[in-house]
Amino acid sequence: MKRSRKEAHEASPAWPAAEGGRLSDRPRIERPRAAAALRTICLALAAAVAAALAGGAKGQPLDEPIKPIPTVTREDPSRVAIGRRLFTDVRLSANDQVSCASCHDLGRGGSNGKPFSVGFRGNATTVNVPTLFNASFNFRQFWNGRAETLEAQIDEVVHNSTEMGSDWSDVVRKVGADPAYRAAFAAAYPEGVSRTSIAGALAAFERTLVTPNSRFDRYLRGDASAIDATERSGYEKFKRYGCIACHQGVNVGGNMFQKFGVMGDYFAARGHAGEADLGRYLVTHDERDRHVFKVPGLRNVELTAPYFHDGSAATLEAAVAIMFRYQLGRIATPGDTQAIVAFLKTLTGERPSWP
Ligand code: HEC
Ligand code: HEC
Repeated sequence: MKRSRKEAHEASPAWPAAEGGRLSDRPRIERPRAAAALRTICLALAAAVAAALAGGAKGQPLDEPIKPIPTVTREDPSRVAIGRRLFTDVRLSANDQVSCASCHDLGRGGSNGKPFSVGFRGNATTVNVPTLFNASFNFRQFWNGRAETLEAQIDEVVHNSTEMGSDWSDVVRKVGADPAYRAAFAAAYPEGVSRTSIAGALAAFERTLVTPNSRFDRYLRGDASAIDATERSGYEKFKRYGCIACHQGVNVGGNMFQKFGVMGDYFAARGHAGEADLGRYLVTHDERDRHVFKVPGLRNVELTAPYFHDGSAATLEAAVAIMFRYQLGRIATPGDTQAIVAFLKTLTGERPSWP
């Protein structure tokens, strides 16, 4: 079924077919033992594929404030396999009804298309579900950055009364009662099933959720034809107007905290400000952190509507207009918005294929 770009965006679609991707481009999971040998093969393959994609006209890699996603992830496959199973396992929730995948749908950009989600006992989350793809590149986890690592994030989500409402002794008991898990954990972790190994396996799986080889990354690697003139002018505007000051690096964000509403009071304009809108202030209780959030990464952003921690922007166009208004103090022209949105859509990468 072929949908128009606009409809596809509004419906927060399933992942589109990879453009020009090959299996050999996909993120691969290396065994640490064979790492060096595999790495050599991967590099050779990547070079060959890149050359083929560029039709032999491959230029020099570009030195830009946005960096391509690495195409190789190094995680222990046995741990990743356990994490992948835990990710869809409802036994992690108190009432055996909610799994990580209930909210983070990997077929829908790692989020779920809704402003808020329902978790344990029908409670709604107070913020929009962020994508898990490329979350491992973020310097902190959560909108307000309260978790330092993926492992720490899992600790919290298991307890959270609106998400899984569980506690660790229950989770360790339920997982440990399953002979298949017991065997897999015993082979992958010296301590077997424990709070640390459960969080570790989930985090290992999450670190494989990367989406390399977007058209923009191919452009960064030297394939000038990977993006068209409009998309390229969108990227130039993204830099010129100053979006890049906050959205940069591998994840096109995810490496700093910034106030939402630098150039105007977004929350007064939106109305009904609640606790979740306080952002980082909830963590530090420092006045300067009021309405400060982690700058979200913009990888695959075309797949993750609605936008912002409050899920208030239904379309990418609306989100970009709000950014112009409240972060840059400008009114965007339709041409600027359209070009920047076209650029943002080149950031959609390839879903991982698991072994
Ligand atoms: C009921 C829905 C729900 C469930 C179930 C759920 N999450 Fe989340 N997840 C969220 C919401 C909402 C946030 C944002 C919370 C915040 O920022 O305060 C989030 C944030 C995250 C983040 C941080 C991403 C980032 O970029 O900041 C990670 C990682 C994550 N979840 C992983 C998991 C894992 C692993 C599980 C299963 C153990 C899980 N989630 C279960 C709703 C859910
Ligand atoms: C001063 C820093 C800053 C600047 C400049 C900035 N942003 Fe943002 N951006 C943020 C923050 C912070 C958020 C998260 C706001 C929230 O939801 O609380 C965000 C969110 C977004 C989102 C929503 C992402 C999602 O997953 O919900 C998009 C899209 C976006 N920005 C695009 C842009 C564009 C395009 C520009 C330039 C026109 C821009 N930003 C300029 C800091 C900035």
